[in-house]
Amino acid sequence: MNKRFYITTAIDYVNGQPHLGHAYEKVVADVIARVHRGLGEEVFFLTGLDEHGQKVQQAAHAEGKSAQVYCDELALQWREFVRQLGISNDDFVRTTEPRHKAVVQAMLTKLHAQGDLYKGEYRGWYSPRQEAFLTDRDRLPDGSWDPILGEVFELVEENWYFRMSRYQGWLIEHFEANPAFVVPEYRRNEVLGFLKSEKLKDLSITRPLARLNWGIPLPFDPEYVTYVWFDALSNYYSVPAALGDPGAVEPLAGYYRGGAWPESTPGIWPADVHLLGKDIVKFHAVYWPIMLQATGIPLPRQVLAHGWWQKDGQKMSKSTGNVVDPLAVAREWGLDAFRFYVVRELDIGADGNWTDAGFQARYQAELANGLGNLVNRSLSMLQRYRGGRVPAPSAELSIEVGQATVRCLDHLRAHRLQAALLEIWAIVSRANQYVDQTAPFRLAKEPAHAQRLDQVLYNLAECCRILGVLLSPFLPETAGKIQRQLGLEPAPVRLMDSTWGGLAEGHRIGEPTPLFPRREPGRTG
Ligand code: ME8
Ligand code: MG
Repeated sequence: MNKRFYITTAIDYVNGQPHLGHAYEKVVADVIARVHRGLGEEVFFLTGLDEHGQKVQQAAHAEGKSAQVYCDELALQWREFVRQLGISNDDFVRTTEPRHKAVVQAMLTKLHAQGDLYKGEYRGWYSPRQEAFLTDRDRLPDGSWDPILGEVFELVEENWYFRMSRYQGWLIEHFEANPAFVVPEYRRNEVLGFLKSEKLKDLSITRPLARLNWGIPLPFDPEYVTYVWFDALSNYYSVPAALGDPGAVEPLAGYYRGGAWPESTPGIWPADVHLLGKDIVKFHAVYWPIMLQATGIPLPRQVLAHGWWQKDGQKMSKSTGNVVDPLAVAREWGLDAFRFYVVRELDIGADGNWTDAGFQARYQAELANGLGNLVNRSLSMLQRYRGGRVPAPSAELSIEVGQATVRCLDHLRAHRLQAALLEIWAIVSRANQYVDQTAPFRLAKEPAHAQRLDQVLYNLAECCRILGVLLSPFLPETAGKIQRQLGLEPAPVRLMDSTWGGLAEGHRIGEPTPLFPRREPGRTG
């Protein structure tokens, strides 16, 4: 059956602060989702929140709230964050929702019935004051524990384990048969290197109810709740299953019934792209495929890992005030300027460093002076010299622009977003250079050059139209403005409309207005 293109982001910890890193991940996923819609595919784009766990339980109690009320309040802020970033997600999952919990329980029930889970001894350093297990990474440089943790001792308790280790050989084979399973390649090689050199341990997937109650109860042992990753990763699958997508429900036959799926609707699962940050690649590229394989669920096609942002070369931190507030930047400079900067600045995978000066330099050079100036002068001249009527088609720039467009579309299909933007800006630069070379303002003074002026104006207007199409996944608001200024009906953009010659002779354009007002340099956001 034909399937939707399914893309996910990581689900954010509900008790964290939404910041540049979260905004970046959502924008990248949003661009990819819009690319696939623009290619004529049906898309399902999922983002959401990770809400269970000890930290949430403790923070809620510290505020005198129930964990559910605490999460409900924070979830409102996160949803608003996603809305203000103009993200085109089709659903928003919260791991505390009954629809998610029911699917996780069905998965666990099936794994238990198959003998993939067993009860065993869990041993670790435990701080009763923090009510948390610690790892050696929590030790101070001299090897001692921070006094803030109180007394720390080794705790031994019974927990449920998932037999992950038995799938190690299978997973190595899966990596070798599917070279694009983890992208970029250097991340894939890291994970594969780890798989080949270290023996996988079984995964503890529960905590005793007595210590942690803010989790999903184990269906076959009421003394336990599932713990962190089993709960969180399953969100990608629980939503399609809960919606009734047959491809997601069938593997759980006998354990779960999904909603009613409209027969003609394309399915969702498996995911085409899981987008997430470099810190959680192992969970997505090792734990998750093994969980799915063990449960008999088809695997996602790709784990796409992006890098991390710093600000001014330092880790972003609320306490030092070293943060970028994406919504403040968007309010001051426009949402599209924010989206443009983060996608243009880095290829997916590389780390980024936000500087206000770097942001403003790109705004001036690439948006205001590059794209904005091109569209404004092209359309203003068409208004002034031809009363806003498009002259007869001319194909002077069609080959160069067509070649850049083909390369751009290839990059878009392969999620090379930065490379696609570079091709788009090659068109911007070529068209601006064309204005300087042909000097239409001089041609307009000589009636003998009227035909030449027609050609130049057509080529410029058509470049603007094509730019409006290619930019639509990245800068949806700006692309809409370009379309309106060209007098085109607002319609969902089809990337295939980027072939040369779309503007018809005699078509009347709209009013040109600056796309990116000039700004005084200063603090960003
Ligand atoms: O890890 N730059 O949630 P989270 C870029 N709930 N990306 C960043 C970043 C930065 N400075 N800081 C964080 C979790 N991220 C889990 C995920 S998924 C089943 C469960 C990214 O709120 C980070 O890499 O800590 C991750 O992809 C996402 O933001 C959420 O991080
Ligand atoms: Mg994190």
